[in-house]
Formats: sequence, C-alpha cells, structure tokens
Amino acid sequence: MTDDVLVVHGGTPLQGRIRVRGAKNLVSKAMVAALLGDSPSRLFDVPKIRDVEVVRGLLGLHGVKVTDGDDDGELIFDPANVESASTDQINVHAGSSRIPILFCGPLLHRLGHAFIPDLGGCHIGPRPIDFHLQALREFGATVDKTPEGLHLSAPNGLRGTKFALPYPSVGATEQVLLTAVMAEGVTELRNAAVEPEIIDLICVLQKMGAIIKVHTDRVIEIQGVPKLHGYTHRPIPDRIEAASWAAAALATRGHVEVLGAEQADMMTFLNVFRSVGGEYEVTDARPPKLGHPGQEGGIRFWHPGGELNAVALETDVHPGFMTDWQQPLVVALTQARGLSIVHETVYEQRLGYTEALNSMGANIQVYRDCLGGTPCRFGRRNFKHSAVIAGPSKLHAADLVIPDLRAGFSHLIAALAAEGTSRVYGVDLINRGYEDFEAKLADLGAHVERP
Ligand code: EPZ
Repeated sequence: MTDDVLVVHGGTPLQGRIRVRGAKNLVSKAMVAALLGDSPSRLFDVPKIRDVEVVRGLLGLHGVKVTDGDDDGELIFDPANVESASTDQINVHAGSSRIPILFCGPLLHRLGHAFIPDLGGCHIGPRPIDFHLQALREFGATVDKTPEGLHLSAPNGLRGTKFALPYPSVGATEQVLLTAVMAEGVTELRNAAVEPEIIDLICVLQKMGAIIKVHTDRVIEIQGVPKLHGYTHRPIPDRIEAASWAAAALATRGHVEVLGAEQADMMTFLNVFRSVGGEYEVTDARPPKLGHPGQEGGIRFWHPGGELNAVALETDVHPGFMTDWQQPLVVALTQARGLSIVHETVYEQRLGYTEALNSMGANIQVYRDCLGGTPCRFGRRNFKHSAVIAGPSKLHAADLVIPDLRAGFSHLIAALAAEGTSRVYGVDLINRGYEDFEAKLADLGAHVERP
C-alpha cells in the first residue's frame, strides 16, 4: 500500500479549539468569478487546500496573475491579460477537481471559446454535467465533446435565456450565474439551488456590478451587463468543515470549539446535533472597542456524557440537511442507542464508506428503498442510498483506505473514536478540503503520527 498513511491511536476525546476559514465551495467559485472582472479582485480568508491550488493553476494558465496579499489567506487576482491556454497545459489539471467546468461562461465571455478538461472530484455517484451543458447551449454556446475534454465556443456571443433545472444542482446554478451576468438580456433560472455558498457567490457578482434578483420559490433573475469590475470579498466560513469537527467532538466524547463557525448557515445541522444529544453554544463575534479586545465568534460543540439518541434524517438541498454533513455525523450515530435512519437523496452512491465502519464494529445496513419519509429520485433506480445504523457499537481499530473527501474525514473520526491503533491510508485526499487538518488534530490532542 501507499506511504500516504496516518497512524491514529484512538480512544482519546478531542479537546480544544480550531478555526475554520472561507468555505471551499465558495472560495473556488469566487476565484473563477475574478476572470469576469476588468480590474483586480481580492479574496480574504482563503484556506490552503488542494482545490484552491487547482483553480489558482488554471487561472494562471489563462493569464490571470494570482498573488498573495499582505494578510494570511489573502489572494489578489489580476485579469488584465486573460489569454487562451493550450489543451495540453489545461489537461495537466484533468481529473483533479470539478471546478474547471465553471470556467465555461467566463472564458466564453472573455475569449469566445473555452476548453474544459475531464473533471475530477469525489466518486460518490456518476456526477453528470448534463444540466451544465444544456444551460450553456440555451445561452447560445456550441459544445463539442471530444475524448480529451470539452471544446466550447460562442461565435455569436451569449444571450439571456429562461431555463429550469431538472434538480436544484449547486454547480449548474453557479454555471448559469457565471454565464448570465454578462450575457445579453435577462436570464430567468427556475428550480435554482440556494445554498449559502450560492448566495455568497451572488454577493461577489453583485459587488462586481451584476444585477441579480433572488425571488421566492428558487427563481433567480439575472439582468446581463456589458462589463464587470473586480471585487473585494471575505467569504462565508466553511460550514462543512465546522460540522465535521462537531461530529468528531461528539463521536470521541470530546469538546471542540470551532472559531469562525456561523450559526445561520448551520441551523439544520445544529438541530440534528441537539436531537442526537450533543450540546453546543454559539458565541457571537464582537468588534474590538476601546478597552476591550473584541471577540471572535464561533460554536462550541461537546458530548455532555451519557448516551446519544438515534435519529432519522434525510439529506437534501438547502435548507435541508447537507449531504456533506452526512458521513461525519454517521460515525457519531454508531454511538447512539437505537436505530438511526439516514436517507441520502442528493448522491446515489454516498454510503459505500459504511462498509469500513462495519469493519470497525459498527452495525450499519444499507438499502435500496427510500427509508425516509419522502420518496426520492433514487428509489426505483437500484441504488443503495438509505442506511440503518444500530447502536451503540464499540468501535475497534482497523486499517482503512480513504475513498473520497468527506467519507475520508469520517474514517478519520472513526479511527479517533475507536479503541486501539488504526492505519488510515490515502489521507492526503483530506487536504483537498480541510486546511491543515493534521495540525488541527494535534491542537485537539489527538494521538496521530506519520509512520
Ligand atoms: C457541490 O457539488 C459541492 N461541490 C459538493 O461538495 C456538494 O456535495 C454538492 O454541491 C451538494 O451540496 C462543490 O461545490 C465543488 P450538484 P456539485 O450539482 O455542484 C446531479 C464536497 O465534498 N446533477 O448540486 O457537483 C448530481 O449527480 C463536495 O465538498 C446532475 O444530474 O453538486 C447530484 O446527484 C462533494 N446533472 C445532484 O445533481 C448535472 O449536470 C446534486 O449535484 C449536475 C448535477
């Protein structure tokens, strides 16, 4: 096996304080938006994670000068010399992330053509891009699929359109936003995703000069403008990372304060956390005043002792329970008394990681049926997308191989919660979305080491 392995001596509650920075799933999109401006953009609080490096590399290839600002985590993007890159250069990034698909609209506006490499990202289902391509064609783009990637052009420019998504896809909504802002005329997008990261992307685009109205019932209306300028933006904090550490605190019977965590974006998670039996306390940020240094906001999560409760939950689009919160929380659910039910309705294959938890002593069965209250798209399509978790189970150490980003973090939590020494292989994948996770583990008193 690989030498990319972390040795985890489990059984110690995580205790302490860590900080989360800008949300991975906003920061990467805001970086793409910088391509649309005719002057430099400035983004604060950018985490040092692999996905950011991939987008930085792709921007660089297209002539955007990316430099580090004076603040830690500050990036400056200068799009004065946007230019084409060769397919060979772009293909170096093939398979590394799903963000490149969002370069379509901005590159079509800036250059009239675009080449998009084969996408990567986590293997949690087929993850098609049909909504993206359908939307781009509606705007007037020509899409040519070749074995090496996608070639797009817009010989007659891009025009606003009325379009309804078959499902409120986050990426496809972002695709429409990044394309519509500079398309000629008005775009009306129905059945749009409205995740906080999307609203924050709308804030970024609005700062650049875009006109975007978010109506009720998932309708977004965009009035195209001929030009946009740069932005200065501090992103919303990473609510997936915050919830991951919260789940780790619960599963290890610990106590973790997550500085930067934002209550408003995590309400659904907090309700479930409390129902399971976890405790939390929100600290509001206070600006510094004369004689008082001010206070950073965050949320403290802890296991209050005693037993946890089983719960039934369904993952869903916002404001539902995020699919990315699911895997970390399930580890804590293995410690709850009774039968918990998890119905995954966003991705059809996001429960495969439960096998690894079972190898550690968990008792999780997965089913093809929709076990939540609501039948979902996957009910009749033969995907094992519901789980029943019987607990509490004593977890024991095991050798684990990380399959994808969020499941990887759940493996890590399981190893931390288990008695004994586990070896977790493929941990570098966690660097795609969790900044400095090894340093944070050390700050929380985890006994982990590289062999
Ligand atoms: C984003 O992925 C996030 N990634 C995911 O986080 C997150 O799980 C997901 O949104 C849902 O919140 C980024 O922001 C980079 P979708 P995205 O389009 O945009 C189907 C993480 O770990 N679909 O909302 O790719 C799709 O198959 C990652 O940080 C189509 O059928 O997700 C899925 O079942 C993992 N056709 C559903 O929609 C399409 O063209 C939702 O996907 C597009 C999507």
